[in-house]
Amino acid sequence: MALAYNHEEITARELKPALYELDGISREAIEAHYKLYQGYVAKRNEILTKLDGVDLTSANQVYSEVRALKVDFTFAVGGIKNHELYFEHLGGNGGDPGGLFGDLVKRDFGSVADWKADLKATGMGGRGWAWTAYDWDESRLFNYIGDAQNTFAVWNATPLVALDVYEHAYFMDFATDRGAYIDKFFDNLDYAVVEDWVQKYGIRK
Ligand SMILES: [Fe+2]
Repeated sequence: MALAYNHEEITARELKPALYELDGISREAIEAHYKLYQGYVAKRNEILTKLDGVDLTSANQVYSEVRALKVDFTFAVGGIKNHELYFEHLGGNGGDPGGLFGDLVKRDFGSVADWKADLKATGMGGRGWAWTAYDWDESRLFNYIGDAQNTFAVWNATPLVALDVYEHAYFMDFATDRGAYIDKFFDNLDYAVVEDWVQKYGIRK
């Protein structure tokens, strides 16, 4: 019996050229993210192969192995999803979001400035990530905090902005000034990409 029935390998997406020309966020920093991202893709494939090979007839000790593989799987998949969001929505000119996303931000946070202040504070407090996500059960946006690639995901919420605050994201360009990095993150957001996601997912006011 296989624990990873019919799994397929995935490959790392290519980086779009605009990521190498960000304002204040260097090519080296993007490459650091990308190297990690490639590692998460490889890890995800490797874990599924290992799960496929787990021998369930060897009784209890196998469950600690399953546990380790399944926990590592969430970390690898989180690292993939988080970075794919990060790469895809950078490369723009920042400013204030318009469209439905802009409307949601103003409705759910009071103003664009308040939304940015909330996400920035969340990113300053988090160890790995901060996200703006749409909660389908409450039909509204929240800013969530993440300490790692696999914490603290909330069910039935779709991330629309993914702010990487791991040290590799800012240390090269901003040393210990994480706040300056977060300001630059906002300046490089492509809100057209975020709005496309909002439309594609069918989010409504
Ligand atoms: Fe990263």
